[in-house]
Amino acid sequence: MISNTAVYLGKGGKVASMSNGMNCQNCHLDAGTKPFGNNFSAVASTYPKFRARSGGIETIAKRVNDCFQRSLNGKALDTTSREMRAILAYITWLGKDVKKGEIPYGAGIWELPYLDRAANPERGKEIYEIRCFSCHQRDGSGVLATDKAGYQYPPVWGKNSYNNGAGLYRISRFAGYIKANMPWAASYDRPLLSDEDAWDIAAYVNSMPRPDVRNTVSKNDWGNVASKPIDYPFAPFADDFSEYQHKFGPFKPIIAARKQ
Ligand code: HEC
Ligand code: HEC
Repeated sequence: MISNTAVYLGKGGKVASMSNGMNCQNCHLDAGTKPFGNNFSAVASTYPKFRARSGGIETIAKRVNDCFQRSLNGKALDTTSREMRAILAYITWLGKDVKKGEIPYGAGIWELPYLDRAANPERGKEIYEIRCFSCHQRDGSGVLATDKAGYQYPPVWGKNSYNNGAGLYRISRFAGYIKANMPWAASYDRPLLSDEDAWDIAAYVNSMPRPDVRNTVSKNDWGNVASKPIDYPFAPFADDFSEYQHKFGPFKPIIAARKQ
């Protein structure tokens, strides 16, 4: 289900047609086992947990459905379905040796230090067109697999990509993800991009068009405005920084203001 999501639940999927054709594994690399490849090792040990985005306690199933509705720009899966039970069984099994509350090194996404300047989408475009376009294409639309079930190179913007309520739409998530994983063959201990390159590419890719779910899926996010992450780019905010600065930085002044 994680590696071949599109076969079952993508466009014209065998079980249902309810997502944009991406696989979970396109972002959760090696089925969520690659260190800092959006890795699942801390999921079973830390859920159910409070999440500020929804303002409530979330189960693993709720979190999986967040990715269906946002990263896969699709519909939520019935939590009692065979497919959901299979996904939960897999994620729980992966984390079975991790003690409750523990977060193993390598879980989730690499945390990149903040720059002193705003991330620069123009510079990011120049680097994207050298380091990324050969697989993800100049127009960001990726390349379908030959059997058309899933992608050989997944889209990074446009109608088949993650929507603007997704985790990768926050540039710190995107930049940390690519720093440890892209271009293909990079890893956290052998990165191929400088920190500046990763931030600037993230700014470029997240400036490009993608599905807008502000009036639907993400309408009720961040009920507590003060709990928005510093790089959540949509107002209202509990501070006076602009949407532009919340999207691209510089983030250090926002952090300093929050500390005060
Ligand atoms: C477009 C990229 C993308 C795709 C595709 C995707 N996810 Fe995610 N997922 C993310 C991001 C980004 C996060 C947040 C990571 C963070 O903030 O550390 C996340 C978080 C999660 C988490 C919580 C991880 C944690 O440690 O709290 C789970 C569980 C999850 N995804 C499951 C799935 C499943 C199952 C699928 C397929 C149905 C899927 N994801 C598809 C990007 C994606
Ligand atoms: C040699 C081919 C290749 C290059 C070059 C490459 N990628 Fe990827 N990228 C992939 C593949 C393949 C996947 C999906 C991995 C999987 O499904 O296991 C992926 C996944 C991704 C994802 C998560 C899925 C999505 O589409 O949202 C992002 C984001 C991404 N790449 C960004 C980049 C950026 C930015 C660059 C340039 C710095 C880059 N990639 C360079 C092959 C490449």
